[in-house]
Amino acid sequence: MYVCVCNAVTDRDIQKAIEDGATSFDHLRDELKVATCCGRCESCAKNLLNTCCKTADAA
Ligand code: FES
Repeated sequence: MYVCVCNAVTDRDIQKAIEDGATSFDHLRDELKVATCCGRCESCAKNLLNTCCKTADAA
C-alpha cells in the first residue's frame, strides 16, 4: 500500500526503515522523503511509525 503517493513510499518501505533503525518521523522523512511534497501522508506515516514501534517493543 502506498503511504506517500508523491514519493512512491509504501508501508513496507516504512516498516523496513524502522527495522533498520529509524526511530522518529524526521528520520523517516530524511531517509525516504516521505511527506516532503504535499504533506498529506504525514499523519499516516506517523501512525505507522507508532504502530510499528509498539509492535517492535512488544516483540
Ligand atoms: S503523499 Fe506524501 S508528500 Fe504527498
